[in-house]
Amino acid sequence: MSFTPRFPMFLHGGDYNPDQWLDRPDILERDVEMMQKAHVNCVSVGIFSWALLEPEEGVYNFEWLDEVIDRLWKGGIHVILATPSGARPAWMAQKYPEVLRVDEHLQRHHFGERHNHCLTSPVYRQKVHDIDTALARRYAHHPAVILWHLSNEYSGDCRCPLCQEKWRQWLKDKYGSLDELNRCWWTSFWSHRYTDWSQVEAPSPMGEGSITSMWVDWRRFSTWQCKTFMMAEKAAVQAVDPSLKCTANLMERFWDYDYFDLAEGMDVVSWDSYPAWHSGDDVAKAAEFAMNHDLMRSYKDQPFLLMESTPSLVNWKPINKLKRPGMHLLSSLQAVAHGSQSVMYFQWRKGRGGAEMFHGAVVDHDGRDDTRVFRDVTAVGQALERLQPLYDAPNARAKVCIIYDMNNRWAIDYAQTGMPKNMRYFDTVCMHYRSLWKLGVSIDFRDMRDCTDLSGYQLVIAPMLFMFRGGFEEKLRSYVQAGGTLLMTYFSGVVDEHDLAFLGGAPHGMTDVLGVRSAEFEALYPQDQNALVMKDGRRFPIHELAEIPEPLGAEPLGVYESDFYAGLPCLTRHAFGQGQAYYLAAKPEQEGLDAIYADLASQLALPRALPDALPEGVVATERGGAVFLQNYSGKEQRFTLSGAYTDLLTGQAVSGDTAMPENGVMVLTK
Ligand code: GLA
Ligand code: ZN
Repeated sequence: MSFTPRFPMFLHGGDYNPDQWLDRPDILERDVEMMQKAHVNCVSVGIFSWALLEPEEGVYNFEWLDEVIDRLWKGGIHVILATPSGARPAWMAQKYPEVLRVDEHLQRHHFGERHNHCLTSPVYRQKVHDIDTALARRYAHHPAVILWHLSNEYSGDCRCPLCQEKWRQWLKDKYGSLDELNRCWWTSFWSHRYTDWSQVEAPSPMGEGSITSMWVDWRRFSTWQCKTFMMAEKAAVQAVDPSLKCTANLMERFWDYDYFDLAEGMDVVSWDSYPAWHSGDDVAKAAEFAMNHDLMRSYKDQPFLLMESTPSLVNWKPINKLKRPGMHLLSSLQAVAHGSQSVMYFQWRKGRGGAEMFHGAVVDHDGRDDTRVFRDVTAVGQALERLQPLYDAPNARAKVCIIYDMNNRWAIDYAQTGMPKNMRYFDTVCMHYRSLWKLGVSIDFRDMRDCTDLSGYQLVIAPMLFMFRGGFEEKLRSYVQAGGTLLMTYFSGVVDEHDLAFLGGAPHGMTDVLGVRSAEFEALYPQDQNALVMKDGRRFPIHELAEIPEPLGAEPLGVYESDFYAGLPCLTRHAFGQGQAYYLAAKPEQEGLDAIYADLASQLALPRALPDALPEGVVATERGGAVFLQNYSGKEQRFTLSGAYTDLLTGQAVSGDTAMPENGVMVLTK
């Protein structure tokens, strides 16, 4: 499967901003030579070019871009062409202030910055449509152009009068009547009942902030708004050439929108990956970013593109540190291992001014091509060429699926319970993921949409599935009934899709499947000590969150060590139908989860990328029959491989006693 059929190769390159260098034709000329030297084959162009493309309303200036694209094409460099809607020209903001966003404090922004347009404004949508159409007419058939990059990092929401009206309309369509809205939002609380649609405003710290159901709806509305905006851009460019595919670049840990939903509106997912390597624990970072990659693969259940990453460092983290030798190749190939068809950077050449003048780039202010960073980048380009046989190879269908659902995440984050603002859903999902990732087990992510199909998975993990929507409990029940293994945790099945508590006990509709009911739930202070004590005596400390269970027939595998609920089950297993359901009532540390999942992996004989035991921090990931062996441990490692392989990167035979340098990576094939 290729999303760039005009150029079905691993893409290597990055954001290229020639518009910042138009007065330096010598530099533009040199760029192409240097790209060739760096084994760069593709750049993303035009992301923030609107002011140059349309210097006056309705007056387009494409000559400079014609030259840039032709020059690149002559040099054998392909182009991912962006629509420029991520930032608008000053004249537009001045003439049509409605294109500017109104923030949560109900303040209209002035011209400046980026990613801050109103998603509703008919003027903005029209202007975007016009420039997108003009770009498509001019370039969609250019042989260099292989993909559309829609806007940039869509994000945020707007509370202008136009958006408020759109919000009310969306609510009318969803609820049909104000009575139904009042019911689903539980507005009898604090006398917040609405008696006329015109009273309903967007949630805001200046107004309504206490109706959590409303907040969750606001996030759904914002997702829908962004999706319609994005799909209008897609329709505009594909009206000219339907065969040229569209992507939008997504972000890590992103919260504003539901990416499963948004991804439905694009042809291929791409994303921008910026791990803070060497900030303390590279193994934890690697697990987190492996999870991000697997999420991106899962959103559309197909390969994805790494659209941005830094060749060296960023300039916006609290501390900006360079990648240590080896890490650039290692982290780039991590993306490939998990399904990427590209390694792209922000950015090709460092600009001379502005907020990003110190952001890492392939070419620094010194303009040299003999730097450490340039050599690292070149090595990635060469590696991708050697890995080309894997280009079309998808990741095998995983046998494990983690339920990760944005509606659930919003509901948890808005809920005022436990340790408010510290329920850490994303991190919790990541901890569960990490335990199996380190064993080399492939993992898919699924959410609670109707299309989710759990059949075929040996293990389904539902960490903190606080909200059940779309009757998902029925899906889980049938899955276990038919022979599946489910692991569910504390704080699951508490609210319905309107964020209203289920009456009659939690996890809703699952207590007979799990053989246990959650009777009470509490948060622990950091100094509180308790533990999960397994039947065989192993002891795993628990922290932050704990539930007191009422056993309903499940077999206790481990019990609470202390406090007034000492001896009550903390980890249980229950046979149901042909399958089994585990329930974890409290939050263990990583070691505890690792042990629980190691037991499960061997019990279920989950497929692993490599059969061999690897040192801590050395991880194996399988794609297309190749095993990406990655050393995140921060030191050299030695281990024994039972099979005989060839490293695709070096062509060398690898077997038996094997040494891997710090930040080393190998791609093993049989
Ligand atoms: C984001 C943006 C880029 C750039 C980088 C810097 O990913 O999309 O335009 O600002 O961050 O890391
Ligand atoms: Zn608006």
